[in-house]
Amino acid sequence: MQTILVTGGAGYIGSHTLVELLQNTDFRVVSLDNFSNSLERSYERVQKICKRNFETICLDLCDKTRLYEALGQIGHIDGIIHFAAYKSVPESVKEPLLYYHNNLTSLNNLLSYAVDNGIKHFIFSSSCSVYGNADDLPVTEASPLKKAESPYGHTKQVGEEMISFVSQAYPAFSAVLLRYFNPVGAHLSGLLGELPLNRPNNLVPIITQTAVGKNALTVFGKDYPTRDGSCIRDYIHVSDIADAHVKALDYLLSGKNKTRCSIFNLGTGTGISVLEAIASFEKVSGKKLPYTIGGRRAGDVVSIYANNSLAKKELSWSPQYGIDDMMLSAWKWQQHLETE
Ligand code: UD1
Repeated sequence: MQTILVTGGAGYIGSHTLVELLQNTDFRVVSLDNFSNSLERSYERVQKICKRNFETICLDLCDKTRLYEALGQIGHIDGIIHFAAYKSVPESVKEPLLYYHNNLTSLNNLLSYAVDNGIKHFIFSSSCSVYGNADDLPVTEASPLKKAESPYGHTKQVGEEMISFVSQAYPAFSAVLLRYFNPVGAHLSGLLGELPLNRPNNLVPIITQTAVGKNALTVFGKDYPTRDGSCIRDYIHVSDIADAHVKALDYLLSGKNKTRCSIFNLGTGTGISVLEAIASFEKVSGKKLPYTIGGRRAGDVVSIYANNSLAKKELSWSPQYGIDDMMLSAWKWQQHLETE
């Protein structure tokens, strides 16, 4: 049986990927997390959905000694899916060194372990923030990487380069870099979703919390050069992102990859403005959402959406859900949290 290590498995995208792996593969799945922005409770939620067990390790990837000890006890690892990282654009602007330390030290340690132990397959959570403010939309994987607008985006640019150089230096090592656009929504069961420990920074949890009176939504900027003045993003359902990881793993394990460091955009290909996202939420929830218009947020790009043809062709992947499904599932999850 092949063993797959998932770092950040208790987190938002990690936990949804655990579900896809446990439901659709026979792999032995080991999840590693230090619960810095997640709760152990997510594992119970995954188990409840999948009715299948998996192993867990509680560890900070920045602690190289403990990392080597703990992973040494697992036995041979066939592939790593690396999610664990900090991910807030505004927080990274305020605390850049926290982001460089956490996101890059952990990646360096994990890559060292992989090359020292002959782990051949590596999947990396990257982000469309690597494109910066792109000149031409939609962006393809060949679009030039402009200057990152935030330290978060820069850690993803550097992370991608580290992995690319490692794949050139070690012929046995191959990687897939998945550039997520804006993952949102929740598992369709309503039993699993995003659960930021502190006040969230991402739009959709703020929308759903505002709808239950636990937050107050401000639209960051209505003076951008876009169709309604608010920023445009390519929102993509978290379960579509999770599904892409299972497909990327199969791509690597069955040797379908054409290069040793393949890059794929994971987006729907549709740009949605902040105001359109709010309108979608209001439509599916039947609730009028109070919000105010505020100033621009530091680190934001104006507009970005994906050309996703390469992932569709090479990974045989296709997003299943639209913006209304994303908002409805996020709303279902928020309502579930209210009744727990
Ligand atoms: C960025 C990355 C994305 C990554 C995510 C992780 C880009 C283009 N995308 O998303 O790949 O997965 O970080 O966190 O860099 N907004 C408001 N009010 C709020 C919160 C957000 O108006 O209270 C607006 C933002 O200004 C932005 C949009 O909503 O225009 C989405 O913001 P957010 O959900 O934080 O994601 P990004 O920072 O775009």
